[in-house]
Amino acid sequence: MKVLVATEKPFAEVAIRQIREVCEAAGFQISFLENYGNARELIDSVSDADAMIVRSDLVTSEILDAAKKLRIVVRAGAGYDNLDLKACSAHNVVAMNTPGQNSNAVAELVFELVLFQIRGGFTGKTGTELRGKTLGLHAFGNVGKYVADIAKGFGMDNYAYDPFVSERVMKNNGAKQCINVDELYRKCQYVSIHMPSNDITNKSVGYELLKKMPHDAVLINTARKEVINEDGLLKIFEERTDFCYLADVAPDCKAVFEEKYQGRFIFTEKKMGAQTEESNINSGVAAARQIVDFFKSGNEKYRLNK
Ligand code: 3PG
Repeated sequence: MKVLVATEKPFAEVAIRQIREVCEAAGFQISFLENYGNARELIDSVSDADAMIVRSDLVTSEILDAAKKLRIVVRAGAGYDNLDLKACSAHNVVAMNTPGQNSNAVAELVFELVLFQIRGGFTGKTGTELRGKTLGLHAFGNVGKYVADIAKGFGMDNYAYDPFVSERVMKNNGAKQCINVDELYRKCQYVSIHMPSNDITNKSVGYELLKKMPHDAVLINTARKEVINEDGLLKIFEERTDFCYLADVAPDCKAVFEEKYQGRFIFTEKKMGAQTEESNINSGVAAARQIVDFFKSGNEKYRLNK
């Protein structure tokens, strides 16, 4: 069996060593395509792969056409908006993700962004504190739960909105349920977004929601830029000088922010929520193990294209 690890944004060395160990212990060959510049390079590398591990790398029909032997692709991470699931099914390729494995890293990034922002970028400017402030978790999956857990340590007052999660689960994880999304944005000075990007969620956070946020609002988006309606975001920034936006990664309208709203935003250069050694090890090794289990015992847990 040949496993290709195709990561435009490479895993840490320590993770690569462990991914290699898992594959080689199973008798599989492993090769790496890292830091590649375009789909052509992936197309050229995938032709003899039986399995592939990717991160946010696009897996399209074109890639799958070239992957003549491919049986399984595992997205080492949670969000799978980069996988064309219909095309995977059409090519008889099993698609999986590794949910939960990088969630703590993303949750910690939320606070790294927030603390830097509310302490004025560590310039000596007077800042503010988190204790007693309201935090809204927009979606309460793996990342949302970790964020709630960390926020408890800061003494924040946690709320959550998620149509797929019960009040009991929220309560057990330290958050009070909001019955609708309007209530979440109305109640919470800080709102942290943790929903996937899909046809329903894309552009779902716009002006009407944002205008409900209390004074000194801070919107944190470590999910996907696509879930924000950028026209609405710009409108709220134009109207309210007390509004901040912290995001992993920059919106398409980044240039407007740079020109008009210095000091009220932080955008990461490259998506880095999951970019820790621990997270790379967790998700990369999980992906390798899922591939080994799939070939050795037919295990299809975490299959996305049923
Ligand atoms: C995820 O969905 O798991 C995160 O966004 C991580 O993405 P990355 O693997 O590209 O860092």
